[in-house]
Amino acid sequence: MTSDENFLSISNLKAQDLERPVMKLLKGILKWTVRVLLVVLIIAFVWGFIAYWMSKNDCQQLTANPTNPMKAILQCDYGVANLTLSEIEKPVPADNQVLLKVRAASLNPVDGHLLRGFFLMRPMVGMRKPKETRFGRDVAGQVEAIGKNVTQFKPGDEVFGLARGACAEYACGTERGLVIKPNNITFEQAGGVGVAGLTALQGLRKGNIRAGQKVLVNGASGGVGTFAVQIAKAIGAEVTAVCSTRNVDLVRSIGADHVIDYTKEDFTKRDQKYDLLFDNVGNHSRSERQRVLTPNGVCVLAGVGGAGMHPESLGRVAGNLAAALFSKFGGQKFVTFIAQTNKDDLAFLRELMQSGKVSPIIDRTYKMSETQAAVRYLEEGHARGKVVITID
Ligand SMILES: NC(=O)c1ccc[n+]([C@@H]2O[C@H](COP(=O)([O-])OP(=O)(O)OC[C@H]3O[C@@H](n4cnc5c(N)ncnc54)[C@H](OP(=O)(O)O)[C@@H]3O)[C@@H](O)[C@H]2O)c1
Repeated sequence: MTSDENFLSISNLKAQDLERPVMKLLKGILKWTVRVLLVVLIIAFVWGFIAYWMSKNDCQQLTANPTNPMKAILQCDYGVANLTLSEIEKPVPADNQVLLKVRAASLNPVDGHLLRGFFLMRPMVGMRKPKETRFGRDVAGQVEAIGKNVTQFKPGDEVFGLARGACAEYACGTERGLVIKPNNITFEQAGGVGVAGLTALQGLRKGNIRAGQKVLVNGASGGVGTFAVQIAKAIGAEVTAVCSTRNVDLVRSIGADHVIDYTKEDFTKRDQKYDLLFDNVGNHSRSERQRVLTPNGVCVLAGVGGAGMHPESLGRVAGNLAAALFSKFGGQKFVTFIAQTNKDDLAFLRELMQSGKVSPIIDRTYKMSETQAAVRYLEEGHARGKVVITID
């Protein structure tokens, strides 16, 4: 054996000696990772199984022989077909609560999501049955009684805002979620304000809206859109509304300066730039939306289209989240937000309505006994303003 061959065989031997323990270590790590993952999966499966079968709600107690009964819409199980008009105990306000005689309640896309129990939401909202059994949150009505710590309302006051279980003859709300109803709008209109009005106002503020700006509202004809157009106008913006042909006159009538019919034209292909894009639909890519934003423009990612789960909904959610993440590094911002109950914002909306600058648009009204039909209609995704439940 030459000295070169000798050197090669020694270096091969060293490499093999080194490789063996490294490979052994890697195999060990892989084996344990797989074992840990399997254990985690089994625990998650067992937890999910137990949580699913243990999941229950207060429906049986609510409906068992009420002594002071009232009619209410209950969601005891998931699914629109499981919404029932039931008799339950009339609520008694807690110290910080107001008891309302409900006159109108309205529906929002979130009511449908909670009712259907989308699987990703189930760990929060109830695995097998909904934890929240009373239906509805937007409300308008008359104060019937107050808890001992309530200072801002008295019996007889006409109010609107948000209250748990609004689709009922009576509901309890807190002072934080209610304000006095303007006298120039009906209970039906006031019942339509809650979530949609707050979403439009808070979303426009999230986009730093200012007078004189060019604002585009995509999805201008629905519950949120009809408020967004009117509030943006009231603040002094120049508003472009995007809607389908049958809603062109509607959005013009509520103040839109320009209207784009999305069935005929794609707003992202135009040369016009906007300071604020209030997007209720999310049906364009980030780069398409960037094209129509000014260099420091903001795209407010309010929603993913009409109420209900549609084949394109999940893709739009993912697209919006990615747009928000990537925009952290550029001049143009894409911002997501979830509307919050806020008394000052409700009071601001009341002033806009009292001054006639905002007027809630009602698409259809349904009786309490027709709530299933109302949800189904809303979930078609083409409401023109708000869908309201009237309480006799
Ligand atoms: N971020 C939050 O906190 C928050 C709060 C409330 C709602 N949201 C979300 O905001 C979105 C809107 O809510 P909403 O209550 O206004 O829903 P909605 O009342 O069901 O209204 C949906 C509107 O979208 C319009 N639309 C559908 N496809 C469109 C398109 N391609 N281009 C333009 N408009 C289109 C429909 O008009 P056509 O009939 O003309 O198609 C309809 O008027 C929903 O996705 C909802 O989940 C978010």
